[in-house]
Amino acid sequence: MSADAVKLMKQQVGKAAADRVQSGSIVGLGTGSTTAFAIQFLGDRIKSGELTNIKGIPTSFQASVLAKQYGIPLTTLDEIDHIDIAIDGADEVDPQKQLIKGGGAAHTREKVVDGLAELFIVVVDQSKLVSQLGSTFPVPVEVLPMAVTPVTRTLEKMGGQPELRMGIKKDGPVITDQGNMVLDVTFSNITNPAELEKVLNNIPGVLENGIFVDLADIILVGEIHDGQPTIREL
Ligand code: A5P
Repeated sequence: MSADAVKLMKQQVGKAAADRVQSGSIVGLGTGSTTAFAIQFLGDRIKSGELTNIKGIPTSFQASVLAKQYGIPLTTLDEIDHIDIAIDGADEVDPQKQLIKGGGAAHTREKVVDGLAELFIVVVDQSKLVSQLGSTFPVPVEVLPMAVTPVTRTLEKMGGQPELRMGIKKDGPVITDQGNMVLDVTFSNITNPAELEKVLNNIPGVLENGIFVDLADIILVGEIHDGQPTIREL
């Protein structure tokens, strides 16, 4: 599929999610290229006066930069007692709506924000749908820098193949918004995502991993049929 077609799917699905936000809502703002379009369309709706009294909770530096750029007022978890709706992308979605996230190294904050939302909408293009988690994407694991070596050994003993994520246009490892590192772990067969999520988070030095179990409420999938973008709900 061409880069233009993928961009079109992401744009349309981002718009479809932004259309579901109502005035007066506290909105979790996810991270990634698909959610970036949702944030842009949300800003457009605020600018046109169609949406009022919106407050955003960003899941990353990227989300807060975009929110400021598109005129979405921001707040923090210290100032609110609930999140009405969160919009976020994913790297894989299985038929049970379980997710792998963290392709942008933002999964730790994303799990906090998306998990608090009364309605969590996931926005993906059709390439993200898999029959089993781990089929196309490794599991991102955020690790304290001083614990990278022992955590790597533990993951290898579990049968995983961890790889330290390296920066692009920056020498050395990716450093998360919280100052940690990311191990991308390939597992040959993830039969029980819920169990793996817990086991990974129980390793000392692990902050959070990218398996999201029972959090997603709605999956919006952007597809291209006969050259036209369409949106379907999983
Ligand atoms: C950020 O860490 C991720 O969880 C993203 O939400 C995920 O990688 C999806 O990003 P894209 O929409 O850019 O594919």
